Amino acid sequence: MNCYILSFDEIGNIEIGYLTSLESLKNIPFDIKRVYYTYGVPTKQKRGFHAHKNLEQVLICINGSVKVKCFNGKEVKIYSLDKPNEGLYIGPMVWREIYDYSENTVLIVLASELYDEKDYIRDYNKFIALIEEK
Ligand code: TYD
Repeated sequence: MNCYILSFDEIGNIEIGYLTSLESLKNIPFDIKRVYYTYGVPTKQKRGFHAHKNLEQVLICINGSVKVKCFNGKEVKIYSLDKPNEGLYIGPMVWREIYDYSENTVLIVLASELYDEKDYIRDYNKFIALIEEK
């Protein structure tokens, strides 16, 4: 499965609070070209429902909690994200569904490429067909 959890160092302590630093090709396994985040997502909303042809991403839930279901055409993995020092790496050709948002979830995403709608596979049947072609 082309997705896995990354654990980031936390600098600080309970007295002063914590800091986590993210760096291209150090604790993030690609050159970061774009950062975006989702917020104000209603708790019943589901997002995602797409895969990417080439894009690599790391999802970090910096506030609240959320679940991410990843499917590579064979295997399903479900991740619970609720720690600002933990990221979910998702590589190319992984169908993702994002759901179970808590109140005030902020999900920040680091991406290996600039936004390109042509890199998206938004049709589930097309995703399955592309997986089977390979
Ligand atoms: P999308 O990637 O489908 O987000 P989600 O899976 O969370 O619903 O993007 C939602 C909309 O935002 C879509 O119209 C494309 C646009 N968008 C950008 O313009 N730039 C970006 O960097 C991203 C990620 C999305």
